[in-house]
Amino acid sequence: TFSSAEKAAIASLWGKVSGHADEIGAEALERLFLSFPQTKTYFSHFDLSHGSKDLRAHGGKVVKAIGNAASHLDDIPHALSALSDLHAFKLRVDPGNFKLLSHAIQVTLAIHFPAEFNADAQAAWDKFLSVVSSVLVSKYR
Ligand code: HEM
Repeated sequence: TFSSAEKAAIASLWGKVSGHADEIGAEALERLFLSFPQTKTYFSHFDLSHGSKDLRAHGGKVVKAIGNAASHLDDIPHALSALSDLHAFKLRVDPGNFKLLSHAIQVTLAIHFPAEFNADAQAAWDKFLSVVSSVLVSKYR
C-alpha cells in the first residue's frame, strides 16, 4: 500500500507523462534495448530502430498500462489482470526483465522531468513500478 505522499508523487508525475505516452514509452524501450540487449529477443518481430513506429506504438501501450495502474493504486492486481495473464501465460517474459524496464522508465522520467523527479518521487515511482512488475509476474508457474 502507498502513503498519501507516495500517491501524490505518482499522480503528479503521471499527469506530466500522460500527454506524452508514445514518446516517453519509446524512449524507455530504446534505453532498455541499448543497455540490456538481451531484452530485444522478445521483440524480434519489431522494427527497433530509433524512433520507429513499433517503438512508439508499443511504448505508448506500456505507458498507458502504467497510467491505468496509477489510477487504481488501491487495486493494481485487478486493473492489470488481463495484462498479467498475457505476460505470464502467453509471452513468458523472464521476470528479471521487469527490473530492467523499471530502471529504463525511471531514467527516462528523470531526464524529462528533472524538477518533479526528486529523490522522494523516485522512491515512490520505484515502489510503484515494482508493484506493477510483481503483479505482471504473479501468475507465473
Ligand atoms: C505486450 C505492458 C513489461 C514484453 C505488452 C502490452 C502492454 C504491456 C500494455 C500490450 C498488450 C496488448 O497488446 O494487449 C507492460 C508493462 C510492463 C511490461 C506495464 C512493466 C512495467 C514487459 C517486459 C517485457 C515485455 C519486461 C520483456 C522484456 C512484451 C512483449 C509484448 C508485450 C513481447 C507483446 C508485443 C507485441 O507483439 O505486440 N506489454 N509490459 N513486457 N510485452 Fe509487456
